[in-house]
Amino acid sequence: MRIAVFASGNGSNFQVLSEQFPNNVKLVFSDHRDAFVLQRAEALEVAQKSFELKEFANKAAYETKLVELLQDYEIDLVVLAGYMKIIGPTFLAGFKGQIINIHPSLLPDFAGSAHAIEESHAANRGLGVTVHFVDEGVDTGKIIAQVSVEFAENLAIYEKRVHEAEYELYPRVIKAFLAGEIADGCSVREK
Ligand code: GRF
Repeated sequence: MRIAVFASGNGSNFQVLSEQFPNNVKLVFSDHRDAFVLQRAEALEVAQKSFELKEFANKAAYETKLVELLQDYEIDLVVLAGYMKIIGPTFLAGFKGQIINIHPSLLPDFAGSAHAIEESHAANRGLGVTVHFVDEGVDTGKIIAQVSVEFAENLAIYEKRVHEAEYELYPRVIKAFLAGEIADGCSVREK
């Protein structure tokens, strides 16, 4: 299975996935040409591509280029890890059922939030991490796996726990994909 990881910024999840699945992670894409994830990719010798939405006439044209890129690399699975754009119809049509995302709350709580860690912490609700398929909605696709994260009064401590949970959960899900256990989109929930 050939995997592309999409990230807009830091890319710590990309790093973990790339180190654990060096034979599968074939490409990293960023929608920001100066994203730190691209430096990580260079250090790990993973092929990297970057272009920005503003360089295209519209989102459909941007996504058409993305689909072509993924086809060039013969990508089977697109793993979103901190990719801060909504997946539009052009991209979805090309890769339906082959795009997954990680979200730092227990969905459906704080779906669509770009600040889900802070918001779930403030509400002391939905504390955890979810990996799900991407569909037409925002964070609404079928849930593959979830894990709870223990609350900590201190936000920085809670945030660290969330990221540790991500670094454990995402590889576990990828492993299940590689083993053919999630091919049909069946969900395995854990709390
Ligand atoms: C993660 O918390 C992920 O859940 C969210 O964005 C963050 C990405 O972090 N969608 P990184 O770029 O992998 O360090």
